[in-house]
Amino acid sequence: MNPLPVIIGNRKTPVSPRSPRALLLLYAAVLLGMPLHAETLRDLAGRRSVGIGAAVDAKALRDNAEYRTVLGREFNMVVAENAMKMWIQPERGKFSFSDADEIVAFAQSNKMRVRGHTLVWHQSLPRWFETGSWTRAETLSVLSQHIASVVGHYKGAVYAWDVVNEAVEDDGSMRKTVWLDRIGPDYLDHAFRLAHAADPKARLFYNDYSAEWPNKKADAILAMVTRMKKDGVPIHGVGFQCHFDCGKYPGPAEFAANMNRFSALGLEVQVTELDVGIAQPATDDKRAFQARVYRDIIDAACRATNCTAVLTWGFTDKYSWKAAVEALPFDRRFKPKPAYDAIRDGLTQ
Ligand code: G3I
Repeated sequence: MNPLPVIIGNRKTPVSPRSPRALLLLYAAVLLGMPLHAETLRDLAGRRSVGIGAAVDAKALRDNAEYRTVLGREFNMVVAENAMKMWIQPERGKFSFSDADEIVAFAQSNKMRVRGHTLVWHQSLPRWFETGSWTRAETLSVLSQHIASVVGHYKGAVYAWDVVNEAVEDDGSMRKTVWLDRIGPDYLDHAFRLAHAADPKARLFYNDYSAEWPNKKADAILAMVTRMKKDGVPIHGVGFQCHFDCGKYPGPAEFAANMNRFSALGLEVQVTELDVGIAQPATDDKRAFQARVYRDIIDAACRATNCTAVLTWGFTDKYSWKAAVEALPFDRRFKPKPAYDAIRDGLTQ
């Protein structure tokens, strides 16, 4: 019989079922309470042809071997948590691609797809652009140069872009950003057209939070992307961020139904930034509840008609914008939490 790959702790080890050494190894792992799995998340997701990804912290990727091991083993997609935001252009016309290049190189050597995040956002702007007074024409020229340079640099390497992030307020109005202020509401159409021109094969997404329910914000985004499709703007998908805590999150049926309103337009949908905070101090009960939320979101993604990927916003509580509330599926020591098992269960169902 061929050796079977078994994940013992954080290593994928080929184990021959007939070997006494292998049995000893498994017995020792169980005694030590190390997690044992035959298949990784990316094995399970691969069988369903769905992406399973995580946001990557460029410094952690560089500094921490265990981070690289778990990331490459468990996920088949990555997104740069910060490295591709507009501060990639720290001076006008000068680009600093090195952190993002390292993420892309890691993904390529581990056969992972890359999502790009994000070309147009009101946060994480370089200082030279954030301040000062700008005409519409000047701002359109910055938008054009930024998108052509960044999307052009990653042409063929980044398969999907969050072209515009968080352009809508919770009440459904357009968010008042430097882009809206300096260009006007057509800045979204320009951004998508420029991204399409720079890489015609890239999948282009609008990405936002608090639109997982059918509420005013989701309705406004639906109306916005319907209008864009009607006008021939090259938009291919909508990302639902899914930053939750254990108190407020959508049920799987209502989230799936909401996603289906978008796929009915011929759009892909993705869960792009999933994390689930736990009110501190964390207890086993709260971790079990967190796992249930993860499971419900994976269920929603699996029920939706055109949900092509689920990405968590980081994967270990060691490196997370929500480290204080232990929001991710691996703990600070890279040990899988019940949330990890819940993702596995959801992908297996
Ligand atoms: O790297 C610098 C470091 O050199 C400096 O000493 C330190 C001092 O403030 O800042 C560090 O940069 C910080 C960076 O995270 C890396 O840790 C920035 O200040 C901080 O603003 C940045 O926060 C990120 C935030 O977006 C703003 O860009 C978070 O990590 C990131 O998780 C968060 O991600 C957003 C998504 O892009 C959009 N959706 C919501 C999501 C969560 O807010």
